[in-house]
Amino acid sequence: MNIGVLGIGITKFGERWDQGLRELLLDAQMKALKDAKISVEQIDALYTGNMGAGQLSGQLHIGAMATENLNIDKPSIRVEGACASGSLALRQGIQAIESGEAEIVLVSGVEKMTDVSTEQVTTMLMGAGDEELEGFNGLTFPGLYALLAKAYMTKYPKLTRDLLAEVSVKNHFHGARNEYCQFRKEINIDTVKKSTMVADPLTLFDCSPITDGAASIILASEKKAKELGAKVAIIGSGLATDTLSLARRSTLTAIPAGKKAAEAAYKQAGITAKDVDFAEVHDCFTIAEIMAVEALGFAKEGEGYKLYENKDTYFMGRIPINTSGGLKACGHPVGATGIKQAIEATMQLRGEAEGRQVKNAKIGVTHNVGGSGGTACVHVFKKVK
Ligand code: COA
Repeated sequence: MNIGVLGIGITKFGERWDQGLRELLLDAQMKALKDAKISVEQIDALYTGNMGAGQLSGQLHIGAMATENLNIDKPSIRVEGACASGSLALRQGIQAIESGEAEIVLVSGVEKMTDVSTEQVTTMLMGAGDEELEGFNGLTFPGLYALLAKAYMTKYPKLTRDLLAEVSVKNHFHGARNEYCQFRKEINIDTVKKSTMVADPLTLFDCSPITDGAASIILASEKKAKELGAKVAIIGSGLATDTLSLARRSTLTAIPAGKKAAEAAYKQAGITAKDVDFAEVHDCFTIAEIMAVEALGFAKEGEGYKLYENKDTYFMGRIPINTSGGLKACGHPVGATGIKQAIEATMQLRGEAEGRQVKNAKIGVTHNVGGSGGTACVHVFKKVK
């Protein structure tokens, strides 16, 4: 597989009271078009990831919003897969090109979360879990990941509280160096440990925040990408699913769908974990990043903690993880996160990640999870010579 990345566009993530859902999406779309140096007429199809607009803004039918924004009438679909909506939209865009139906596609993700109460957002997000078994019984997403953290840290006590906090410290370190991030301040282990308890053992600084934002990426067939001079290609895409509920899951100390998606994407790309220079992973909670680096094959299950002992995952380290700041510091506008990860991978491979640039980056991976692991999607990005 060889799909070119022609252009990228992203809004500032955070509390964006200055822009609505439509304007955020438009801003990202226009930035991507400008970056790709193409006209709107050249777009053959649009895919837009969104999870919560129906509940939070009363707005469905995002596919039509995406084309109305650009005053075009091309095929356009909204894609939903909880927090993996963005990556699923990306995969749909890739498949439209692979099928021969489209040569150039515009893939976006958008979410507007801060206009309502935290309680309303928590209820909406819980739609990504099992309503009957989990939501109805009062579980929330911090609660679900706290269960995973408890199970993991009981089985693998070498993941200490301090090393878990180090995930957040590192992501804030990167976030401070990324202008589109929600939180741009460095923190230390005490900041994490002493912050408000949300769901034991996860404190405020173990959690990704509630965020507004949009991101867009323009993809092209190999032929078009060559013609238009794309510098980055997507060479692998893997998607896997698992049970909706944790109660029916085979394990609570790993997210198996992440591993399966990674294996499929690596196989398609013809690479192994050793070939990966950096990764953007789904750190919706600190424990999720530990499980992600294990799923991607950078450490064995139970040994992810080792990468956090020696700054290996910092942008200047052995295997940089979440140079964007991750979901934790960059923010997590759920439908946009998968596209944001793809944008960070593209910026790194183009050498445009000023202040957090990974040296000699040739291959990057994105890892995006829906819910507590019911969906996982992994993509492999490569620098084009
Ligand atoms: N990390 C660091 N600081 C955070 C934060 C986070 N995750 N969330 C909020 N803050 C800060 C705010 O900026 C604010 O700071 P200020 O007082 O200096 O302005 C302060 O904490 C209070 O913010 P508020 O919005 O009132 O927090 P809240 O208690 O309503 O929400 C959480 C905090 C953790 C409950 C909320 O961010 C949350 O639900 N996160 C998880 C989202 C989620 O589940 N996503 C899907 C994952 S699969």
